Parts: sequence; C-alpha cells; structure tokens
Amino acid sequence: MKAFVNKQYGSPEVLNQEEVCPPAPKDREILVQVKSISINPAEWHSLRASIWLIRLASGLRAPRNTVLGADIAGAVVAVGNQVTSFQPGDLVMGRAQSGGLAEYTCLPENQATLIPSPLAPETAAATPLASITALTALRDKGQLLAGEEVLINGASGGIGTFSVQLARLFGAEVTAVCSSSNAELVHSLGATHTIDYTQQDFTRTGQTYDLVIDLIGNRSVNDLNRIIKPGGRCVLVGYSNFRLTLKFILKGGWLSKTTTKRFIVMNAKTKTEDLAYIGRLMSEQKIKPVIDRRYAFAEIPRAFDYLGTRRAKGKIVVSAP
Ligand SMILES: NC(=O)c1ccc[n+]([C@@H]2O[C@H](COP(=O)([O-])OP(=O)(O)OC[C@H]3O[C@@H](n4cnc5c(N)ncnc54)[C@H](OP(=O)(O)O)[C@@H]3O)[C@@H](O)[C@H]2O)c1
Repeated sequence: MKAFVNKQYGSPEVLNQEEVCPPAPKDREILVQVKSISINPAEWHSLRASIWLIRLASGLRAPRNTVLGADIAGAVVAVGNQVTSFQPGDLVMGRAQSGGLAEYTCLPENQATLIPSPLAPETAAATPLASITALTALRDKGQLLAGEEVLINGASGGIGTFSVQLARLFGAEVTAVCSSSNAELVHSLGATHTIDYTQQDFTRTGQTYDLVIDLIGNRSVNDLNRIIKPGGRCVLVGYSNFRLTLKFILKGGWLSKTTTKRFIVMNAKTKTEDLAYIGRLMSEQKIKPVIDRRYAFAEIPRAFDYLGTRRAKGKIVVSAP
C-alpha cells in the first residue's frame, strides 16, 4: 500500500511516499481503508521531534513508528478477534496511534465511531482530535456552565474553531482571541467579542472570565490569573513554551490550592462515546469543522509545510491515495 514514511526526524522534506505492507489489526483494532485524513500540530511535533521528551517516547535518534498517526475517516475492511462494535463495510472516523498517513491503517476500537449520515468522509476526518480536545477542555476540565463568560486564546485554529462553537452551544458568552483577519470567521461560529492579539493584550483589558481556554500557551500564569474571576478556571491546552508551562504547573498548582481559582493542564484522550456525541452534533448541524485547506495525498509534505506555519484557519485535510 502507499504510505508517507519518515525514517528520520526533520522538516517535511523527510516525508517520502513509499510502498509498505498494510498493517494487520490487533485483537481490539479495526483495519480501515482510509478515505480522508486531517493533520494536527501533534504530527508536526512528532515529525520534527525538536522537543526532546518526544524522542524519549518515539525513539532517540530516529522514529520507531515511521508512518505518522493522524485523524482519519474510511471504510472498515477487517476487524480484530475481540472487536464487537464494527464490521467490514462500516464507515468510521477516529484517531490512529500511528500509521494514519497511508492507504490502510488500524484504529483502536475504543477510539473510533460510525460516521453519522450525511457527513462526508472529509468532514469526519477533520474532526477527531480537535473536537475532542475542545470538548474535554470546555466540558470536563473547564466545567463550563450556561451563562458563563469564556475566553478562548487561539480561537481560529483547529481546536479553537470547535471550541467557539461548543462553548456557544453550551450557552456561554464567548470572547475569541485571534488576529483581525479571522474575526469574521469566529463571529460566524458564535463568538460575541473578539480581541485582536496583534493590537491588544487580552490580559490587560480589565475584563474577567469564568473560564479561559489557552490553546497557545504564550502567557504567564500571572497574566492569566489577572483575567480569571473568583471561582473561575483556566485550562492550558497548547504548551508551546516549556518555561511558561512549568510555571503554570507550579504556580498554577499553588494558586489552585490557596485560592478559589483552578489552573488545569490537560491532555485529551479520544473516546468512542465522545466522538459519537460530536458526530451527533455535526449530523444535527449544530457544529461543523472549519476546513481551511485541502491537499492531495501526494502533497502531504506541502500540507505539513502549511501546518508548520501555525496560521491554519481551522483544519487541514488530505484526500486518500
Ligand atoms: N493538551 C492537549 O490535549 C492537546 C491536544 C491537541 C492539541 N494540543 C495543542 O493545542 C494547540 C492548538 O492546536 P490547534 O490544532 O488548534 O492549532 P492550529 O490549528 O495549528 O492553530 C492555528 C491557529 O493559531 C492561531 N494563532 C497563532 N499564534 C497565535 C497567537 N499568538 N495568539 C492567538 N492565536 C494565534 C492562528 O491564527 P492567526 O493566523 O490569526 O495567528 C491560527 O488560526 C497546539 O499547540 C497543539 O499541539 C493540545
């Protein structure tokens, strides 16, 4: 089968299209013929491995898994011995642990769900990681309630565009931090207020919020503390800066113990029931993925180049080979 393989860490040029053997599903996995793929900053970090912690997990000198994982949608072609929820022919979406940039890949049964009609494979593929991260941040970690005020830093990206829609659906008033070129987009998704981060410091407007979702991770815990109401929560999702993340964990942990505010660092886990819930919301047209750019399979290195700019307005999708 065709797959994009990276035998070394590096920039997108290390991704090469090759013929490799299709994987075989383990007991609790399904083998899927991929129809559409979306890529996330997680794959970018795995490709570059510029963060040394990634090398500890994925291989010190070179990646152990040479085909990167990804969000995919496709048709089940075989199931493992202990799979009970799916059968060949089912159309599914989910997140591959590795091996997503290929013609066939395996998904754990508990990280996949049936694609509800009438969703197209492209819509389904654009969904898993970004929507589940947004849902976990707002509902589970952020415990967002109707009528509350939420600020989303990084509102125009893959997770941000789902977060704005979900927060609005949960009855919150949304302030979106994004550049002015994306203000119209986030308003159309349900944001009431926007703050252009290139013009204004969102931590110095005098406004406070019940919940802050930080998808960028470029602000100090002191800055974030200033804009959280008593009893409010701050969920750190994007940890782009090691020093700020460490301070968030240490000082945020101390503030969580000594004040009524809570500072939470999260790591999303894809679960079938959450994916199914998101699928239902999409089939009822209550939320939708925002697709910024589409690439052919052979253009995967170009898709990664764009991902690396960190300028995506929503999601980047790739069609299957
Ligand atoms: N903790 C977890 O469980 C978890 C799970 C998944 C992902 N993540 C992380 O979450 C982060 C966000 O992921 P994503 O998929 O949403 O990323 P993304 O789609 O790549 O985000 C791109 C968006 O970020 C905006 N942006 C860039 N710099 C900004 C800034 N300084 N202030 C405000 N917005 C800015 C860009 O808008 P402009 O062009 O207007 O700047 C662009 O629309 C990533 O770091 C990812 O690794 C964490």
